[in-house]
Amino acid sequence: MKVLVIGGGGREHAIAWRLAQEPFVQVYAAPGNPGIRKIAECIPVEKATPEEYLSAAELENVDLTVVGPEAPLVGGIVDLFRSHGRKIFGPTQAAARLEGSKAFAKEVMTNAGIPTARYVKASNGEDYARALDEIGCPVAIKADGLAAGKGVIIAHTREEAEAAVQSIATTIGPCIVFEEFLTGEEVSFIVLSDGTHVLPLDASQDHKRIFDDDMGPNTGGMGSYSDGRILNSDQTRQVLETAIFPAIEYLNHQGTPFTGFLYAGLMMTSSGPKVLEYNVRLGDPETQSLLHRIKGGFANALLAAANQDLSGTSLEWKGEPSVCVVMAAHGYPDRVRTGDTITGIDEAEAAGAVVFQAGTRSNKKRLETAGGRVLGVTASGSTLPGAIANAYRAVESVQFDGMQFRKDIGRKGLRHW
Ligand code: AMP
Ligand code: GLY
Repeated sequence: MKVLVIGGGGREHAIAWRLAQEPFVQVYAAPGNPGIRKIAECIPVEKATPEEYLSAAELENVDLTVVGPEAPLVGGIVDLFRSHGRKIFGPTQAAARLEGSKAFAKEVMTNAGIPTARYVKASNGEDYARALDEIGCPVAIKADGLAAGKGVIIAHTREEAEAAVQSIATTIGPCIVFEEFLTGEEVSFIVLSDGTHVLPLDASQDHKRIFDDDMGPNTGGMGSYSDGRILNSDQTRQVLETAIFPAIEYLNHQGTPFTGFLYAGLMMTSSGPKVLEYNVRLGDPETQSLLHRIKGGFANALLAAANQDLSGTSLEWKGEPSVCVVMAAHGYPDRVRTGDTITGIDEAEAAGAVVFQAGTRSNKKRLETAGGRVLGVTASGSTLPGAIANAYRAVESVQFDGMQFRKDIGRKGLRHW
């Protein structure tokens, strides 16, 4: 079976890596990256439009396409492929609004009775002030559209809130969601859905802030771990029943069934799990640690879901936890410097880790930095402390000027051990 992976980051490297281990799968990627090129055939793209990806799928006559990032999904890639009779795993443009519009997501949560933070939507000066009066501080201020992880600001004072509104309204757009501030531990919970049935993945945790102990500005994600112990079976059932099934049923009922990866970003509050956001794709870097733990069945599950029949499908899991440490470039998450030479990937892999590549490029025979998040050094262990130690031992082999990484990935999970 020929499978095309859309995208070229660490998440897509992990998807391609997992698929490449299934004996009957031949992997293609568009555009891919230097890491993916070692295990798959990469097809260059210029503008990254749904049309260009369709041409890539047609050129290689692939049997299935799986989409990594949100932008092509929100741009309607699934509708386009289907209208050309091409099999693809992902949500339609209508269902992808769950991530594309925070206001739509909140509407779905309210209508489907899904626990989430209290919120007010506003689009002009007077209404912003009224929304801030109503919600109070601290407050989560969220841009309505896709903002590549930069669309949410937590404000602790009225002054901070007004500055945040000003910045979002001028740089992203006037429609803003104001949310009650929730406290608790964040968990990423991702399922495959065929529109009706779901196949849950184990829970994982991202580390969004740039510095240890969750300090400093938000990033795309500085590391992740996945461990069967993050949620117990009662919590998993509660998340499925309150955050996943109602959303799937609601969208089905609306005539816009959700096929694809449904990612619920949860806050585990003292009054139970609440949904902070939905994404309509796998998380990055959660995917790196999650797929590192899957032994088999991934390609079959994607195909079954794309064929709208996930019932009876299962995944084979390694019981062991996995940890992914993101190594980021100088200046990330602000002004990123590129062109620094990367060494030590082979040594890290010889030590038992898998190094997923994200912001890298080949320059003659050298591998160099080409983006904010550069590598995801991923390892497992028979215990979480062991997985953490293995990942950091591999990190020690890797070098590039200006590299930044957190030293505490996975630490929150240690209390389960
Ligand atoms: P989102 O993109 O909506 O998940 O928001 C990005 C990050 O902002 C989340 O991962 C949380 O860390 C934080 N956040 C978002 N909404 C809230 C909220 N209502 N209360 C507390 N933190 C939040
Ligand atoms: N790791 C968070 C995300 O992919 O949105």
